[in-house]
Amino acid sequence: MPEIIVTGAAGFIGSFVTAALLDRGEQVLGLDSLNAYYDPALKQARLQRLAGRNGFRFRQVDIADEAALKAALEDALPQARQIVHLAAQAGVRYSIQKPEEYVRANLNGHFNMLQVAREAPHLEHLVYASSSSVYGASKKAPFALDDAADHPVSLYAATKRADELLSISYARIFGLRQTGLRFFTVYGPWGRPDMAYFKFTKAVLEGTPIETYGGGALQRDFTYIDDIVAGVLAALDRPPPADAEEPHRLYNLGNDRPESVNALVTAIETACGRKAQRIDKPMPLGDVPRTWADLSASRQDLGYAPAVTLDEGIRRFVAWYRDYAQA
Ligand SMILES: NC(=O)c1ccc[n+]([C@@H]2O[C@H](COP(=O)([O-])OP(=O)(O)OC[C@H]3O[C@@H](n4cnc5c(N)ncnc54)[C@H](O)[C@@H]3O)[C@@H](O)[C@H]2O)c1
Repeated sequence: MPEIIVTGAAGFIGSFVTAALLDRGEQVLGLDSLNAYYDPALKQARLQRLAGRNGFRFRQVDIADEAALKAALEDALPQARQIVHLAAQAGVRYSIQKPEEYVRANLNGHFNMLQVAREAPHLEHLVYASSSSVYGASKKAPFALDDAADHPVSLYAATKRADELLSISYARIFGLRQTGLRFFTVYGPWGRPDMAYFKFTKAVLEGTPIETYGGGALQRDFTYIDDIVAGVLAALDRPPPADAEEPHRLYNLGNDRPESVNALVTAIETACGRKAQRIDKPMPLGDVPRTWADLSASRQDLGYAPAVTLDEGIRRFVAWYRDYAQA
C-alpha cells in the first residue's frame, strides 16, 4: 500500500493527523526536523506515541534542504498518492524576532514540497496548512474565503499567503491538485507550549502571573484538535477534480464561535480550580483583534462540523497537562 507523506509529523497537528491516518489503516511516512523552536522533548514524546504503530515510519529531515528532502523521500515518492504538508515555522510573535526562520521553512520548505509533489508520478492530492492570519486585521466578520487576504500584519501571515499563491500557480501550471486549509487557533492535549492557553495553564498551576493583552478583549475562534483532524481527513479524501482549470481549493477550519481571552482565562481557572494572577500589557505588534471563521464551504463540501466547546476542550487540555507536567 502506498504511504501517505506527512510533514511536521512530530508537531502538534501533524502527530494527531498521523495517528488518525494510522487508525484507519493507512501507511504513513512522517517527516520532521524536530527543531528547537519549542521543547524538542515534547516532539519526541509525540513521536513515541506513533513509533511502533503498524504502518508508521519516520525520517528526521529539514524540508528547506532540497537534497536532504529528496533523499528522505526517495523510496516513498514513486508510489505516493497523497501528501499532508503541515511542517512550518509557526507563531506570529516569533516572526518579528526571527523572520529568516519563516522564509526558510515556510517559503523554501513549501516550494520544495511543491517541487517533489510535481515529480511524484502517482500523486493525487497535496493538502497543506495555511492560517487564519492571512485575513489580517479584517473588520468584516466572519472571515470568508472570498475576503481579501492581501494585508498581512505579520511576516508569518505573509509567508502563509505566499504559500497559497505558490500552490495556486502550481495547480494551474502543472495540474498539481491541492487543498489549502486555513486553521484557526488550534488547541488541545499535546499542544504547543508557545500558545497562550498552554502558557496560561502552566502559570496558573505553578502560581505565577500570566500576561494578557489589551484587557483580554482580543478574540479568537479557538478550534479543538479533534475537529481540525476531522477537517484535514475530510479534505484529504476530496481532491479537486483532475480536469479543473485550477485544481486548488481553500477552506477555513475554525469553530465559528469567537471567544475572548478573558473567556479563555475563565475556562482555564475553572479547569485548574485556581485563579490566575493577571498582568495586562498593550497589544503586541502582529496580533489581530479578532478571528472568526466562515465555515459555509467547509460545512458544505467537507461535512465539517466542529463540536467541541472551549470549556470542554480546555478541560481536556488541563487534564492532559497535569499528567504531562508530572511525568
Ligand atoms: N496550531 C495552530 O493554531 C495553527 C493555526 C494556523 C496554522 N497552523 C499551521 O499548521 C501547521 C502545524 O502547526 P502546529 O500547531 O502543529 O505547529 P508545530 O510547530 O507543533 O508543528 C510543526 C512541525 O513542523 C516541524 N518543522 C518546522 N520547520 C521544519 C522544516 N524546515 N523541516 C521539517 N520540519 C519542520 C517542527 O519541528 C514541528 O514539529 C503549521 O503549518 C502551522 O503554520 C497552526
